Amino acid sequence: MQQFDVLVIGAGAAGLMCAAQAGQGGLNVALLDHSEKLAEKIRISGGGRCNFTNINVSEVNFISENPRFARSALSRYSSADFIALVKRHNIPFHEKHKGQLFCDRKSDDIIDMLAAECNAGKVKWFRPHSVNAVEHDGSQFKLTTTAGPLQARHLVVATGGLPVPKIGATDFGLKLAKQFGHALVDQRPALVPLTFDSAQWEPFVQLAGLALPVLSRGSEAQAPWFDEDLLFTHRGLSGPAVLQASTYWNPGRAITLNLSGRDCEPATLQTDLLQATLGAKANADNWFAAQVPHWPKRLVQAWLNKPELQAIAGRKVAELGKKQLGPLAQAVASWQLVPSGTEGYKKAEVMRGGVSTADLHAKTLESRKVAGLYFIGEVVDVTGWLGGYNFQWAWASGYTAAHAI
Ligand code: FDA
Repeated sequence: MQQFDVLVIGAGAAGLMCAAQAGQGGLNVALLDHSEKLAEKIRISGGGRCNFTNINVSEVNFISENPRFARSALSRYSSADFIALVKRHNIPFHEKHKGQLFCDRKSDDIIDMLAAECNAGKVKWFRPHSVNAVEHDGSQFKLTTTAGPLQARHLVVATGGLPVPKIGATDFGLKLAKQFGHALVDQRPALVPLTFDSAQWEPFVQLAGLALPVLSRGSEAQAPWFDEDLLFTHRGLSGPAVLQASTYWNPGRAITLNLSGRDCEPATLQTDLLQATLGAKANADNWFAAQVPHWPKRLVQAWLNKPELQAIAGRKVAELGKKQLGPLAQAVASWQLVPSGTEGYKKAEVMRGGVSTADLHAKTLESRKVAGLYFIGEVVDVTGWLGGYNFQWAWASGYTAAHAI
């Protein structure tokens, strides 16, 4: 039986940070992961350049049954702290937009940095190895693993969420939480493309590949508006606008898109459109195209084919009144769509839900049920927006647990 102070299961973003910090704090740490390759999720993140944090992070950027839960860890270890670490390792990076920081080169820079930090903390690696059983005798966690029995007084669960099973995602952390009496918040794919029934999507299939800036909003009451790009796909909608909205979407409900290019209500748009008809001589199709100059032509055509808007196609602008422009303004400024589903965990960037924060101490990430047991990273019911927030939660929760042990 090999004895350690801390056993960390999962060498992804949160586990690497936690193991490195605990090791550098003088603890004898073991880090175990079943994957052949180290931290594949970091490697594929941000299109291969890892959007490793965001300059502006607060609990507002996260969803959880307890919206304030993340605050303590996020203030304990801020994005400025992680940026300082990246700078210490001389990793070049840049801000893309909205405070999102990406590596100039590749995500491997971040993985190499975290591995070096673990080595500086003399972390003992167990990879690739899996855990067959976990027991707790009241003071020690005893793990049966493919590397033999391992024992420690502290066990940190950092096995991540369910997205992208082909690179090693499992429900191990969720099952372990249940084993130790923790409640789970229902899980579902988030930051995920949305799909539509083929009949419903038929008019838009030809738009696949088309992108434009929009305002988007999920179906939940607390869903914020996101000002991002929308992407049409063969099966539905994607792009940052829809990924963000998907996190706040419930099956059977509508998402809302404002394609007007302005932050306005349909009534305001209708008034403006009516105003714009005055003295206009063009036919309605050309006139409408001029009202939405940021729309590609293909979109204008598909739009005017929508059944509720066919009344204006081919008409003279002078003939258009409130009756015709009402539905047009509504459709442009507040397009309501009910997706039939999502692209699932295969394509999702994160999992919503997970280990309930009700059973965890916010200041330490330690279990309220079993002393010495910690849950960090995506396995916890804390889900960040797109834009580097999920990594910042992984770093912050990993750091916080390490310093609490
Ligand atoms: P993470 O998934 O990183 O690590 C979990 C580890 O546990 C893995 O190494 C896995 O092998 C291991 N494991 C799982 N089950 C195990 C078991 N049974 N036994 C042993 N080991 C086990 N976020 C962001 O902020 N910026 C970005 O740019 C992106 N981009 C992005 C792109 C894509 C395609 C995806 C899928 C996700 C992102 N994300 C992101 C989200 C981000 O990757 C994610 O939130 C963090 O990696 C979560 O960190 P964790 O350490 O919790 O899990």
